Amino acid sequence: MTRTRIVRVERTDVECSHTVTVRFQDESLARPGQFAMVWIPGLDEVPMSFSYIGDLKGVTVHNVGEATAALHDASRGDKLGIRGPFGRDYRIEGESILFVSGGTGAASLMPALEVAVGSGIGSTIVIGAKTASELIFVDRAISLGADVRISTDDGSKEYKGFASDLAMQVLQEGSFDRVLTCGPERMMKTVVTACLEKGIPVQVSLERFMRCGMGICDSCSFGGLHVCVDGPVFDGKDIIEIEDFGVFRRSADGSKEVIP
Ligand SMILES: Cc1cc2nc3c(=O)[nH]c(=O)nc-3n(C[C@H](O)[C@H](O)[C@H](O)COP(=O)(O)OP(=O)(O)OC[C@H]3O[C@@H](n4cnc5c(N)ncnc54)[C@H](O)[C@@H]3O)c2cc1C
Ligand code: FES
Repeated sequence: MTRTRIVRVERTDVECSHTVTVRFQDESLARPGQFAMVWIPGLDEVPMSFSYIGDLKGVTVHNVGEATAALHDASRGDKLGIRGPFGRDYRIEGESILFVSGGTGAASLMPALEVAVGSGIGSTIVIGAKTASELIFVDRAISLGADVRISTDDGSKEYKGFASDLAMQVLQEGSFDRVLTCGPERMMKTVVTACLEKGIPVQVSLERFMRCGMGICDSCSFGGLHVCVDGPVFDGKDIIEIEDFGVFRRSADGSKEVIP
């Protein structure tokens, strides 16, 4: 749905000190991995993955700038504009899926995890964060019945190291026929490279600067593709050769910048 719908915030849930989930009623049909353009009246419109895809939808927002700070401060009854759902979703198939999430990447993966568990697919999720207090959706994943593995860069909870390092260990231990990943792009590139070496199909959700969300403005261009319509979920084998993957993105003025 390309027209903006005005919705009201039903509630906000604090996930950690810099991340909140904003919930709102919206009957559009979103699939796991799709995103919305969220308009904050008078301020900006920003892309956000759906972290909940039922009628009571949700977006889970990491506070990094003006628009995301405004979403953090949203209260029950506030108005937002929603365009979408947009983009390609995760294909959820096979017998055993490993999900690998870093930071706010868990927001995009959780609806996919719910669908996988609900379909009887064996589901293991690595949830990574810099430190224990920044982990999100651990309880939600446990309550679904998924096998939940946790990594923290500083070792403050469970495995010490990057989510991609723990994912390599989990891949050695178990047998997986699909991997889905969302998080920092360098982390995802490591996961994609390892999966392709092992012959495991891997899907990856990318972020690029977006304006239209519909393939018109070229803001999200990525190696001749548009992340808003050709992604945000890509097959790893389709993007591993693209030189920008894990290295460059475009800023708001269109200039190329190195991915931190
Ligand atoms: C398909 C898609 C799904 C996304 N899903 C989520 C989500 O579920 N939760 C979430 O918190 N964020 C998500 N993002 C990122 C989010 O859109 C940006 O963080 C947001 O636009 C920043 O806006 P701002 O005004 O708060 O910050 P700005 O002041 O505009 O920027 C602050 C920082 O964020 C970076 N930034 C700006 N725009 C983007 C962008 N499009 N992608 C990545 N970094 C950006 C800037 O480079 C800068 O370093 C998603 C992005 C895309 C493309
Ligand atoms: S955001 Fe406009 S082409 Fe992708």
